[in-house]
Amino acid sequence: MKSDSKIQVPDGLDLNAIPAHVACIMDGNGRWAKKRLMNRVKGHEQGAQTVEEIVMASREIGIDVLTLYAFSTENWARPKEEVKALMHLLKRFLKNKTEELRKKDIRLNLIGQIQRLPDDVRKQAEQAMAATEKNSAMILNLAISYGAREEITMAVQQIAAKVKSGSLDPKDITDNTVSDHLYTAGMPDPDLIIRTSAEFRLSNFLMWQAAYSEFAFIPTLWPDFTKQEFYQVLIDYQQRDRRFGKV
Ligand code: IPE
Ligand code: IPE
Ligand code: MG
Repeated sequence: MKSDSKIQVPDGLDLNAIPAHVACIMDGNGRWAKKRLMNRVKGHEQGAQTVEEIVMASREIGIDVLTLYAFSTENWARPKEEVKALMHLLKRFLKNKTEELRKKDIRLNLIGQIQRLPDDVRKQAEQAMAATEKNSAMILNLAISYGAREEITMAVQQIAAKVKSGSLDPKDITDNTVSDHLYTAGMPDPDLIIRTSAEFRLSNFLMWQAAYSEFAFIPTLWPDFTKQEFYQVLIDYQQRDRRFGKV
């Protein structure tokens, strides 16, 4: 994807080798708030600011797909008040930012169990997706009530149903068949997965798609993560030698 010609090229970043798909596990909001003796929700609010910054930074340099892990299937088990606050923040983001996403030619796509969201949030999400569906400069995947095991299980169910109905022969099932039944069907796999807050795990994120992803685990808490640091992570990524099993 062509990048914005007006932008200042960050020193050292090769605009001809921008990863097509970058994914972020946005972690550390709670600890950011705790350090300041604030309620965890304040951390999520601050984290929402970082979301805006990273979305625009990605758009500026021509990333094709940005996937942000905002709420996992396991996060439903958090205290009711926190879940409520997160849903409220999500709704506010969708409501206030759709116009800007539309103007910047960004297509918003929710990945996850959208049917589990409260009705008002789901409707807002459907509106935002419809309003941006023709946009083509970048896809912003927001992973909400997302879990890779659920995603793969759903794919297996759909594939099994096709076999049962006779429209698919089991010997024609390939890894592409599986990819085509995931939320990310048709998109490139993530080249780079960034996790903030010094946690070194995937937490049920993009397990199938991450087969050959590069990882960047960084100590910064998500609310403190900046565009400059994001570009630095990309510069480091550009130094890596991705071999894909070859020599
Ligand atoms: C990430 O921050 C946001 C969500 C998982 C919704 P956390 O809320 O997990 O923050 P920590 O890990 O407790 O610091
Ligand atoms: C992963 O963070 C999910 C999101 C960032 C949305 P968690 O904070 O929920 O993950 P664990 O519990 O530390 O593995
Ligand atoms: Mg966390």
